[in-house]
Amino acid sequence: MAEKYTIKVNGIERTVEAETDTLLIDVLREKLDLTGTKRGCDNSTCGSCVVILNGKAVKSCQKKIAQVDGGEVITVEGLSRGKELHPVQKALVEAGAIQCGFCTPGIATELAALFEENPDADEETIMRALNKHLCRCTGYEDIKNGALLAQKLMKDER
Ligand code: FES
Ligand code: FES
Repeated sequence: MAEKYTIKVNGIERTVEAETDTLLIDVLREKLDLTGTKRGCDNSTCGSCVVILNGKAVKSCQKKIAQVDGGEVITVEGLSRGKELHPVQKALVEAGAIQCGFCTPGIATELAALFEENPDADEETIMRALNKHLCRCTGYEDIKNGALLAQKLMKDER
């Protein structure tokens, strides 16, 4: 049976009607038209569906709406400030870490959450976060360089 759930998405409270086991990714994409969050697999391996939930990077394909009721979600659409890109987005562009861009929303939200929580994350921690993400296009070196630049830009902003 469908129920009503309320989540704050990119700063705006949204109430949706959905079955208890509807996945967060489907709520975002199909009910809220936030298609920046991508589905790249059906076995929790690609990371392209990552969003920020209550400050943590999570796979939205692994969360049911009932589990996130009352929570706060930031998707890739919510990272930028008006027309200005988030430092993580700027860094990924500048490092050439984007080709088709399918994996980018997941990587960008992952890194934004990481550096918000842990501005001084060491390389091992950064690589652990990146290892959750599959990219079928770019060399991972560019993504790593983008992550290191993102860390610097976010620190400079503080
Ligand atoms: S869609 Fe691949 S991990 Fe969620
Ligand atoms: S840029 Fe195409 S999958 Fe990563």
